[in-house]
Amino acid sequence: MASLLVRAARGERTERPPVWLMRQAGRHLPEYRELREAYAFRELVRTPALAVEVSVQPWERYRPDGVVVFSDILTALEPLGMEYRIEPGVGPVIPDPITDPQGIPAKVRDVGEVLGYVGAAIEALVDRVGEEAAVIGFAGGPYTLASYAIGGGAGSRFAARRFFAEHPEGFQELLGVFTEVVIEHLAFQAAAGADVVQVFDTYAGELPPAAYREVVLPCHREIFDSLEVPGIVFVRGMGGRLDQLSGSGADVVGLDWTVAMDAARAELGGRAVQGNLDPAVLFADPKIVREHTRAVLEAAGPAGHILNLGHGVHKDTPVRGVRAFVETAKEFDR
Ligand code: CP3
Repeated sequence: MASLLVRAARGERTERPPVWLMRQAGRHLPEYRELREAYAFRELVRTPALAVEVSVQPWERYRPDGVVVFSDILTALEPLGMEYRIEPGVGPVIPDPITDPQGIPAKVRDVGEVLGYVGAAIEALVDRVGEEAAVIGFAGGPYTLASYAIGGGAGSRFAARRFFAEHPEGFQELLGVFTEVVIEHLAFQAAAGADVVQVFDTYAGELPPAAYREVVLPCHREIFDSLEVPGIVFVRGMGGRLDQLSGSGADVVGLDWTVAMDAARAELGGRAVQGNLDPAVLFADPKIVREHTRAVLEAAGPAGHILNLGHGVHKDTPVRGVRAFVETAKEFDR
């Protein structure tokens, strides 16, 4: 039988809610911080044995129902020949960002070849956790990737909207390039054994709704139409226009913590959803974490719900908060 997480992604009723957390692998775990003293971030990502080790760290501690491959959305820059690095305390840095339409790169290298390390990590993960958890692959969304490629790093988000305003055709061309990379990257991860894939177009919600409909939505449709495994869409700040997320064709609509779960359910009909506890709640006493988590579960109902946070785990999150969150799902009695 398909895993709990895959069944919920297909909209089915499940005996209890499946649970995983966005960015569950990473800096909130002491065992990750320890590995990072020996290896740079890119080295962890590019060495399949190490990427698998980091991917299963949260699974060994908490036993969530999904294990997400340890990688980053910015790997999609590699097939374009763009450099990036992750600087401690700063975040992503792209030394040569795109400043005008003439600078828009074409895909210069084969995705399966340059990102072969992601496929290798997924294959090994399937061997390691196969029956017990769903293996989750992912890619950045085209808008969020474009935003990094243009802005060059953490302060990139205004630069992307400005570029779009000044060069709408060039912006669309860049989205098209990333859409192609994302489609190939997700197909490649599914072929390697990913049971589910998620598209993180985290910043796309910052575009005005009409622009989103015109330039982002067609890319999302193309991506989700191409998938052979269930797909999850995640964009922050889409409360009030969940129809645009649903229109992506994704099997599962990711909800951030600013959306009321019951209202989202009413608006989205039978579409499966993922989310949406505020990541800040995990800092509270475990008793409070459990109460808030149960409230999300009750509002979401028994069918087609994957419990998750409304965004990634914050790096300072206490282990006890994550544990209380996962246990609440596992003990939840319909
Ligand atoms: O979910 C997971 O556990 C899988 C791994 C994963 C990472 N990044 C690991 C990572 C995923 C799915 C991502 C997605 C990602 N990366 C997004 C989209 C979703 C989101 O959460 O907003 C974005 C915008 C990025 C780009 C990126 N990479 C940023 C902003 C950072 C810095 C993070 C910070 O808080 O400073 C990274 C680096 C990164 N990616 C780290 C991890 C664990 C930190 C690496 C380290 O310093 O050790």
